[in-house]
Amino acid sequence: MASTISTPQASTRLLPWSARAWFLAALAGQWLFATYIAWTLVRPLMGADAASVDGTRLITGYIQGDTAGNAMLLGHVLAAAIINLVGLLQLVPAIRRSYPSWHRWAGRTFMVLSLLAAISGFYMVWVRGSRLSDVSAAAITLNGVLILLAVTMAWRLAMQRRFAEHRRWAIRAFLLVSGVWTLRLGLMAWVIINQGPNGNTERLDGTFDSIWVFGCYLIPLAIAELYFRAEKGGRAMQFTAAGVLALSAAFTLLGTFGAFTFMWLPHF
Ligand code: HEM
Repeated sequence: MASTISTPQASTRLLPWSARAWFLAALAGQWLFATYIAWTLVRPLMGADAASVDGTRLITGYIQGDTAGNAMLLGHVLAAAIINLVGLLQLVPAIRRSYPSWHRWAGRTFMVLSLLAAISGFYMVWVRGSRLSDVSAAAITLNGVLILLAVTMAWRLAMQRRFAEHRRWAIRAFLLVSGVWTLRLGLMAWVIINQGPNGNTERLDGTFDSIWVFGCYLIPLAIAELYFRAEKGGRAMQFTAAGVLALSAAFTLLGTFGAFTFMWLPHF
């Protein structure tokens, strides 16, 4: 058995399989998040019941008379719902091959909405003052700056038809845009593993919080670099990347379970 596992074919096959496992776990998590955002935030903000969003976990939420701030919030969560719905599908090679025009249009939509989400996010943190703590404001601001960079790079490289580099930058953009989702999954997985808060505060400035507000997008970026190297690397690199992706899939499942059960479901 050990000799079968250590053949080069096994390591080459393990990598895509662990990537698929992560993909399926992430798809469930992102679509549940999109459903939560659409139903609990977008729907009331677009209707007559806008103030009801203040019963959720928002920091500021809806404020009567603050037309600009409320519009930014609506634009932000509407963009977030669509991004979480279409983003992952862009990574599927079969969809890219069979439906290239869908890939192009969904890609443009994803990129424009990511820029809108980042810019409206800057407004909410720095103009409207929606922030839990200085460390979380700094982390989400860096996340937003990196989103602008990665989206611009992915877009330019696609227009220049440099598709191998475009793919890498698009994956980075996706992971950065998914930072807010990964943040929630990580917090919930952490609380489940510790059977309660441990280094967490309501203001998101406990020891674990202060590391994870940056880690939720920097760690996925590091794992993506490992994956890119493993695609061209030797057996040891491929086994390592496959193991890390398998762990990421387990983390994503646990985090999705936690976020859905404790953060999203109570608001439906
Ligand atoms: C582009 C990726 C982003 C996505 C998908 C996203 C998604 C979301 C979602 C779904 C919410 C509602 C949270 C909830 O109810 O649990 C939210 C809130 C918020 N986001 Fe983002 N976000 C993104 C980027 C950013 C950036 C870059 C910033 C700041 C620079 C930011 C600032 C905020 C703020 C301040 C709130 C709270 C608004 C309030 O409480 O009124 N977001 N975001």
